[in-house]
Amino acid sequence: MKKLIDLISEEVTKAFVSEGYDAKYGKVTLSNRPDLCEFQCNGAMAAAKEYKCAPFMISDKIAAALSGCGLFESVESVKPGFLNIKISGEYLADIMNGMIADEGRYGCEKAENPLTIIVDYGGPNVAKPLHVGHLRSAVIGESVKRIAKFMGHNVIGDVHLGDWGLQMGLIITELKERKPDLVYFDPDYTGEYPKEAPFTISELEDIYPTASGKSKQDAVFKEAALLATKELQGGRRGYQALLSHIMNVSVTDLKRNYENLNVHFELWKGESDAQPYVPEMVQMMKDKGYAYMSEGALVVDVKEDTDTKEIPPCIILKSDGASLYSTTDLATLVMRMKENNPDRVIYLADARQSMHFIQVFRCAKKTGIVPETTELKHIGFGTMNGKDGKPFKTRDGGVMRLEYLLKEIDDEMLAKIKENQKEKENLDIDPKEAEKTAKTVALAAIKYGDLSNQASKDYVFDIERFTSFEGNTGPYILYTIVRIKSILSKYQAKGGTIEGLSDAICPAKNAGQKNLMLSLAKFNATIENAYEESAPHKICAYIYELANAFNGFYHDTKILAEENDKLQKSYIALLVLTKEVLETCIDMLGFSAPDRM
Ligand code: ARG
Repeated sequence: MKKLIDLISEEVTKAFVSEGYDAKYGKVTLSNRPDLCEFQCNGAMAAAKEYKCAPFMISDKIAAALSGCGLFESVESVKPGFLNIKISGEYLADIMNGMIADEGRYGCEKAENPLTIIVDYGGPNVAKPLHVGHLRSAVIGESVKRIAKFMGHNVIGDVHLGDWGLQMGLIITELKERKPDLVYFDPDYTGEYPKEAPFTISELEDIYPTASGKSKQDAVFKEAALLATKELQGGRRGYQALLSHIMNVSVTDLKRNYENLNVHFELWKGESDAQPYVPEMVQMMKDKGYAYMSEGALVVDVKEDTDTKEIPPCIILKSDGASLYSTTDLATLVMRMKENNPDRVIYLADARQSMHFIQVFRCAKKTGIVPETTELKHIGFGTMNGKDGKPFKTRDGGVMRLEYLLKEIDDEMLAKIKENQKEKENLDIDPKEAEKTAKTVALAAIKYGDLSNQASKDYVFDIERFTSFEGNTGPYILYTIVRIKSILSKYQAKGGTIEGLSDAICPAKNAGQKNLMLSLAKFNATIENAYEESAPHKICAYIYELANAFNGFYHDTKILAEENDKLQKSYIALLVLTKEVLETCIDMLGFSAPDRM
């Protein structure tokens, strides 16, 4: 289905052309004076310069040419030369009926040429618990992925685990101090290793920070960890067996945590999966003359003539021959081109990593790892701050574990929902259902709180505001959906049916109804735009507008008490469409609505 704004533009453009003016003047935009009109065209103002006449002479002619066109209720020419446009109620009702008939898509067409898109998000580090710093990557990445999927693309989400480097050596070294008799440390052992890991997740989560702390103070310990890392990467059997235990225990825990966030990855690859590609990649860069030695390190120049700031060379190997973060990301691209041949790779990582990605992307293109046709894109997100404007911390100033944060919000939500139930004397709710509802609403609160901000900006994580049932919040959106569900089930309880509603929507009877329809009609344009700009916040802004439009309609219109069957059916169809559009949108944001709250 074409976008409404384009349909209107086409019609107005035709009028400009038929009156002898250039087509470029026919562009129509949303009105910035909604009190006066719904759409506007300022083309006559610009055309007046080219055709050397007063703007209103042109706008008068266009308005006259458009009078009688079935698309419009009115096209007014106002001085000095604006066109104020209102769309016809019949036409808008037709669009609504078309949206209902287009189930699941609601007028939004799938991409004609589906792309293969990899979304690299999550990025947790093995053996370290998830903390709030990981929240944004997971939440925004999941939404960016779902939006692209909805547009019909072939999208692959990869968690890209941080499972390579010194942290593994640190864990092995600390484990050796705690349990020196484990068979993994016996270099002469040739038998099979136990299936059971020699530690639990909570031990593992204690081992890593202890080891990391020691390595900063104890040079001998650090030396041992470096050696263990080297031996592990060199293939020492016992260490490899430990690595797979570390991975299993940690990944099981990570999966559980991401599951709770309704975040799901198609691929659970890690930095270590890219390592086999490093030697050949480095050789290629040397052979083709891109890589050269500078101050002991192997580097590739990536600066360009048009740069306005200094872009340092991309370091491929350190002076001791070890690979770095950039080496791993480049080798991962080699692997991805070979395994998935993507048209686009999108990375979700802290905005402070932007220089890293500029270097990696330029190096990958320059050395031919990635063809010119593959787009590489870093979505850098800002920091999640506390109310004090500083990075979010626990009450005692530590790094907040994601699990605890979620629990805190779940509990707060549960208390709120219980109170809400009490107020409405709706005391029959089952405690299990209340708990489940609290989790659903809490997740919406957190995700909407994050996603409603432009990703690149810092934002304040304000639990109180996020969990409010009023204002621009996740719970408000859910509340609107729940309200619609409740009206629909009352209607059904009285024998009404919500099936077979095609062609049921009649032209709006009042401003509130028309406003809701206009808002619904923007669905396809909004989603396309959110996809093109990888911008979930545009969907948030849209559903907030739509929820407000619905609540305005609900306020102005009696629905269940309406006696005219045809009209009532029209309202019910509008409710169903609003509910489905809202639900489709929140699914793209990565959360869902309960049946009641
Ligand atoms: N593990 C990294 C970190 O904790 C994030 C990884 C981002 N993705 C990437 N391909 N570099 O900072």
